[in-house]
Amino acid sequence: MAQNTPTPAKRELQLLSVAAEMYPFVKTGGLGDVVGSLPPALERQGVSTRTILPGYPSVLRALSNKEETIRINNVLGHAVTVWHGRADGNTIYALDVPSLYDRPGNPYLDATGQPWADNGLRYAVLCRAAALIAAGLLPDWKPEAVLTHDWHAGLVAPYLRYMEGATPPVAHVIHNLAFQGLYPRDMLQTFGLPDWSFTSDQLEYYGQISFMKGALQLSDRLISVSPTYVEEIQTPEEGMGLDGVLRARSNVLTGILNGVDLREWNPMTDPSVFFPYAVGDIMARRANKRVFQAEFGLPQKADALLLGMVSRLTTQKGADLLARLAPRLFQENIQLAVVGVGDETIMQEFAALRSRYPDNFVCHLRYSETLGHRLHSAVDASLIPSRFEPCGLTQFHALRYGSIPIAARVGGLSDTIIDANSAAVSEGVANGILFSPTTEDMLYLAIRRAQTLFRQKAVWARMQRNGALHDVSWNGKAAQYAQLLHEMSGHETIMTDTGTDIAPRRADPNSARPRLSRQVARMPRTASGTTTSSLVPFPPRTGTRP
Ligand code: ADP
Ligand code: GLC
Repeated sequence: MAQNTPTPAKRELQLLSVAAEMYPFVKTGGLGDVVGSLPPALERQGVSTRTILPGYPSVLRALSNKEETIRINNVLGHAVTVWHGRADGNTIYALDVPSLYDRPGNPYLDATGQPWADNGLRYAVLCRAAALIAAGLLPDWKPEAVLTHDWHAGLVAPYLRYMEGATPPVAHVIHNLAFQGLYPRDMLQTFGLPDWSFTSDQLEYYGQISFMKGALQLSDRLISVSPTYVEEIQTPEEGMGLDGVLRARSNVLTGILNGVDLREWNPMTDPSVFFPYAVGDIMARRANKRVFQAEFGLPQKADALLLGMVSRLTTQKGADLLARLAPRLFQENIQLAVVGVGDETIMQEFAALRSRYPDNFVCHLRYSETLGHRLHSAVDASLIPSRFEPCGLTQFHALRYGSIPIAARVGGLSDTIIDANSAAVSEGVANGILFSPTTEDMLYLAIRRAQTLFRQKAVWARMQRNGALHDVSWNGKAAQYAQLLHEMSGHETIMTDTGTDIAPRRADPNSARPRLSRQVARMPRTASGTTTSSLVPFPPRTGTRP
């Protein structure tokens, strides 16, 4: 009888993920989607993730069987109760600090749409508590690597770097360089940061403290969410003042595209889709278009090119361009449906278009997951006229649901979409339409091009099928994350049965922590979990950006 070959029992790499939002508990955009959908994909790659989040009311409510893990008496002047629980298959640590996080609505903005005045402190507390946990504060768990997301988690790497003793390595994910977390220099003390951290090789950015810059300078690895965006942000045009830093750190900077959770985005099981259909079944979509037109109050015309947009309504997303262009489009047999919320002036323009062109235009100026999903299952094409787009998730949603993306050739959009130029059409590989530069006229021409292709039924159907075949999942991308995290942490595969001689994975030489250009004193860390007297509470002051 053949002997069973001993199988290696891999010990999972223990990862702490730090973020300001996570779907399905709290989401304002793609950041939340990624923070929510990456951990299950990493799990399949031997990485076990625990995510630390601010204890917003929705997060605390969602945690089933939550237990108090630890109480930290003084994190930047605040008592923090850390709850530990499971929700939606994920392991979460939630920081319960009612004075900072128990606020209704959008996590970053007050009722008037302005950033909360104490956002700097709110996210510094998140970072500081995460750093303490990463450094080993909890009795029963210590991560081997830390993954931080966007500016809100940007101070984790500096806090860890300034601590005494061994701390786990940090990989920082840049989802959007436009948001940097800029605060006045006199808030150093509020954030518990030493004066000497305010240098251009650490946290100083044109006279202000930058959370993002701290992460870019002091993390072990940098990831951004598409290969093209990684190239773009190293240029003065797109680098938001940080291109020099990014060029200097290009040896640790990697582009990994986002993925989507295929269970969330499956038109066969999606409760938001009127008539369920299999991915790639483009005929079955017709009924969805008809019923969507009826539901949205548009004439039920099968031959009208029905365009849709699900987006934050901001200039980044080119929503202003679309609002200006719309009257020109409505001279044609074109309908447009917009689901979005954002800048007040853009929303007013869309509202005005609605009353002027009721047969061509409809908008829902709010956040609705249901309508966001339904739209892609019904429209012929999804518009993404972004001025810049680190990755973008809506093109993935469109491709998977059989809607043709019409998108600006920037960032992750150009990494995902194959433009229907004549060569790609004759080769049968096109899956969308790209245009450049992002201007009203170029968007107009792209839509006119779409109209022509829409009339060529076989070509359009081929593009839809190509889109459906495009791999929008996390599979390959999570494997890239896992490899990077394993290399960074020098995590080894541990065998329970040593009958084989597979070599352990070696630590990546690049992961050696870069030396700071000057010798820095290290901030002490107390064993009790109470931060030291250097972390004096100060009244919160105004921040700059959500
Ligand atoms: P960003 O994060 O820059 O806003 P992404 O394309 O990465 O852009 O992700 C946006 C996410 O938010 C997608 O899941 C999209 O469907 C969703 N979304 C944006 N606006 C709305 C809205 N008004 N209603 C529902 N979902 C929305
Ligand atoms: C940001 C970017 C978007 C990206 C998302 C998730 O919000 O604007 O392009 O898809 O983060 O990474």
